[in-house]
Amino acid sequence: MQLDHYLSQAHRVCVLTGAGVSAESGIPTFRDAQSGFWASFDPAELATPEAFRRDPQRVWSWYAMRRRMARSVEPNAAHRALAALEPRYDAFTLVTQNVDDLHGRAGSRNVLEIHGNILRARCAGGCVTVHRDDGSDLAAAVFAADQPAAADTSTAGRQSDAAGESHTAGAPDAAGEAVPTCPECGDYFRPDVVWFGETLPPELIDQAFTAAADCDLFLLIGTSAEVYPAAGLPHAALERGAKVVEINPDPTAFSTRATLCIREPAAAYLSRFLEQRGS
Ligand code: OAD
Repeated sequence: MQLDHYLSQAHRVCVLTGAGVSAESGIPTFRDAQSGFWASFDPAELATPEAFRRDPQRVWSWYAMRRRMARSVEPNAAHRALAALEPRYDAFTLVTQNVDDLHGRAGSRNVLEIHGNILRARCAGGCVTVHRDDGSDLAAAVFAADQPAAADTSTAGRQSDAAGESHTAGAPDAAGEAVPTCPECGDYFRPDVVWFGETLPPELIDQAFTAAADCDLFLLIGTSAEVYPAAGLPHAALERGAKVVEINPDPTAFSTRATLCIREPAAAYLSRFLEQRGS
């Protein structure tokens, strides 16, 4: 396998993942979201600072639903394969556009979550950031809404995932959770993610472009490679002489420039790949 050759030659690896990596865990991609259950929730109307100002409870409840969904699924073979590769290289940087925490749960360490993480919340006034699972009293208070709501047991939000299983998610305003407020300043807590119209954290973007420019192998997995600045990373790697390998069942905006395109679902391909290598 050609990927085997590139992986064995490489010393410094940079990876960019997108929604397709979590598809086989059962989280719909943004493209899937254009149809079915998710189509009734327009991210452009919910994932913006304006939407939060207009109706903080609706936005908070939508994220509570998404957190419940993220916690109800497991990292898949693609997440696990990337975690297993990390310690084998002099440098390994995993840049992800996903906010679902699955790379961290799979054991990846050097992860740049450039679009944030829905399992974290931060005071809108900037006082404090808290992770749902940090065990603190503050986390318990902020994420009290994550307890399964009555709506979760209905079939209203049931949908099939890529593995043919189904899971439920409450309607975004069904639970009617109050938005938690900051004990320091009284401002609302908000999800620690990048919303439409917001700037990505500049220090994370700098680190991502440094890793891309420094690597000798760049893996582009499960992303349509259309949303910048993340989509600029494989170009930066290629320009510095790195091989760029894409794993995606469908062509992307980058495919014509990739060194190698593997047209398969990432988890299915990578689990087979690691099995064949005996690792
Ligand atoms: P997209 O939904 O745009 O693209 C998902 C990609 O995953 C597509 O290219 C699919 O072909 C591919 N795909 C689907 N199933 C796959 C599988 N099993 N294995 C591998 N690939 C698979 O999602 P992203 O590229 O992640 O930004 O979208 C980038 C950003 O656009 C998101 O992070 C979001 C959105 O605006 C923010 O929220 C800030």
